[in-house]
Amino acid sequence: MSRIAYVNGRYLPQRAAAVHVEDRGYQFSDGVYEVCEVRGGRIIDQRRHLARLKRSLQELRIEMPMSEAALAIVMRECIRRNRVRDGIIYLQITRGVAPRDHGFPPPGTRPSVVVTAHGIDVVGNERIAADGIAVITVPDNRWQRVDIKSISLLPNVLAKQAAREKGAKEAWFVDGGGHVTEGSSSNAWIVTRSGKVVTRPADNGILRGITRTVLIDVIRAQGLEFEERSFTVEEAYGAREAFLTSASQIVMPVVRIDDRPVGNGAPGSVATALRAEFHHHAEWT
Ligand code: PDD
Repeated sequence: MSRIAYVNGRYLPQRAAAVHVEDRGYQFSDGVYEVCEVRGGRIIDQRRHLARLKRSLQELRIEMPMSEAALAIVMRECIRRNRVRDGIIYLQITRGVAPRDHGFPPPGTRPSVVVTAHGIDVVGNERIAADGIAVITVPDNRWQRVDIKSISLLPNVLAKQAAREKGAKEAWFVDGGGHVTEGSSSNAWIVTRSGKVVTRPADNGILRGITRTVLIDVIRAQGLEFEERSFTVEEAYGAREAFLTSASQIVMPVVRIDDRPVGNGAPGSVATALRAEFHHHAEWT
């Protein structure tokens, strides 16, 4: 079955789906995106993802090209047409097509919208979570507005590749003060030796992950101690547990950082419990 993509009003087989060569996303990374988890054919935390999408667009002064309700229908239709039960839905909006010029295009230029959906290997992911993953640390060389979910991801691409080349699954960015900001495509967490769950405040230095937001609810509901503060790489090396969060990985235990075992080198009980609990607190659409 050919995968179907939504592109500017049409559902097309992916091999025939295309955007113009002068799309500003292609030429300038001038756009934003969202990734939602699909589970059992339903979209997880759609409302929050669409709210973040709207905020990203506002921050970049790109107009929302259609209503939230219309976008939700397109998302649902992409899931249906691609027969996705468990997977990912990807949504991208750029400032549209115009002759190449760094300044904004003429008023009335329509933003481009692309939506795709594909299945993921849930059983495989559970197996990975049962073993935990390795991360490396890299200097955070990104711009100052990573709170915007922009498609401009070159430092993230290079960081992820550096991780892969070292046999790791994720790279954690580290700021000039030696504090972990976040992963190349996830938020970073530790559990201290005294059992406190710690993650960096969602200022401009990280993306405010939707999984992160929901997980804070889970942590509070479970009566765990929680602290929203920065932590250093050294603290992470010595933590009892570490994990990361994202829509595609949910809660993923981290068992090695820069080749040093975290805790006893196996997924921790807090991360494992939070992973099991997450979907009870998420919104299902
Ligand atoms: N990444 N930080 C960064 C830099 C991210 O790219 C992501 C998500 C997150 C976690 O956000 P959320 O919990 O809303 O998924 C944090 C997506 C999954 C991606 O780029 O594929």
